[in-house]
Amino acid sequence: MAASRVQLQKHWLVPVLTLPKFKYADVEEKILGGTTARRGDIVITRGEGCWLFDEDDNKYLDLGSAQGVAMLGHCHPGVTEAIQEQAATLTLCPSYLYNDTRAEFAKALVDVLPKYLNNVFLANSGAEAMDGALKFARLFTKRTAFVAATKGFHGRTMGALSVTWEPKYREGFGPLFETTHVQFNDAAALDKAVTDQTAAVVLEVVQGESGVNVGTPDFLKTAQRVCKERGAVLIVDEIQTGFGRTGKWFAIEHAGIEPDIMCLAKGLGGGFPMGAFAYTKAIREVLTPGAHGSTFGGSPLACAAGLAAIEAYKDEGLIQRSGILGANMRNQLRGALEGVAMVRDIRGLGLMIAVELRTKVAPVLKSLMMNHGVIALPAGPTVLRLLPPLVISEKEIDIGVQAIAKAIKELKA
Ligand SMILES: Cc1ncc(COP(=O)(O)O)c(C=O)c1O
Repeated sequence: MAASRVQLQKHWLVPVLTLPKFKYADVEEKILGGTTARRGDIVITRGEGCWLFDEDDNKYLDLGSAQGVAMLGHCHPGVTEAIQEQAATLTLCPSYLYNDTRAEFAKALVDVLPKYLNNVFLANSGAEAMDGALKFARLFTKRTAFVAATKGFHGRTMGALSVTWEPKYREGFGPLFETTHVQFNDAAALDKAVTDQTAAVVLEVVQGESGVNVGTPDFLKTAQRVCKERGAVLIVDEIQTGFGRTGKWFAIEHAGIEPDIMCLAKGLGGGFPMGAFAYTKAIREVLTPGAHGSTFGGSPLACAAGLAAIEAYKDEGLIQRSGILGANMRNQLRGALEGVAMVRDIRGLGLMIAVELRTKVAPVLKSLMMNHGVIALPAGPTVLRLLPPLVISEKEIDIGVQAIAKAIKELKA
């Protein structure tokens, strides 16, 4: 026994002594790889405001807000302080017990939500919120089928995936829930697709993932009308657009529609993972204890972050700012990219902006990050999507616009 222990130790020591520096990228690729295409070999180790820093302290302007989440920038002081304080007080409280922080957050949330959406279920992510919304729609209508839009994106869990359109995301995972996808912005097709068997119509007001496509008021109002007429529930996905991304608290305000359920996530927790869906009093009336649940949903820690985030959106005037800065940024992009044949269109609402190219966007995104220190997002194969933090300064917008223009023009050369 003693001999083999020595042998084991020796065997263990040799590779330890000769191991090269621990490489985070290699380890992530080996253990966590498989579902994500990485953009470059950099390892991000910290964030501050609109900037991310790698392990060598190189900095990157984050115009993607870490998938649209860091609406308040990275490590917003108010949110950070609230998390630290709550972490030292109470992190967990099961939903069968009341909690002070959760109640305060719930109150603050319904204060900024449309008045008719005064009931909320707290979850942990966008897809979890969407799955819950689909469940409530089925429970309320006693129907099972869904209608959604082409190019719509609602998440990757089985329910959310069912209403998501992209065939590449759905392939291999069926059978999914029965869903009819109608052409986005085709009001007549939507009118035809919704029947007395439809549990819910699920839509984004501005489609994010597929290219920042803005829903027309006619299409969105048709959705509300046919749902009312045929007894279906209208679920609006504000997971990406909520909390000022489009220059309003919620994108539905642009179209003047009133959904029965609204799904939220990204900006909700000020950077802390959190999801929620808000629903009407009529839906609340069909719920019974045990109808839905979530172990982590509504933890005091998440709620403290969410409460601080709502305070920041309000106190810093970020919703209105998003509208103004977004319009400026689009104008600056148009100026900097004027006459560039590679650019097909520049569009958006608030600080949700698309630069559509006539070529693949992936090389532009890579060059933008590696050569110009700016991080942006794709939206489909040819669209460069910008979801900057709402706290971005005019100077930072200028840096971003110049870098984007350079990266696109260089590609042409
Ligand atoms: C509009 C929309 N819905 C749903 C989701 C899914 O959210 P999550 O990734 O938190 O599950 C996303 C995420 O990008 C989204 O943009």
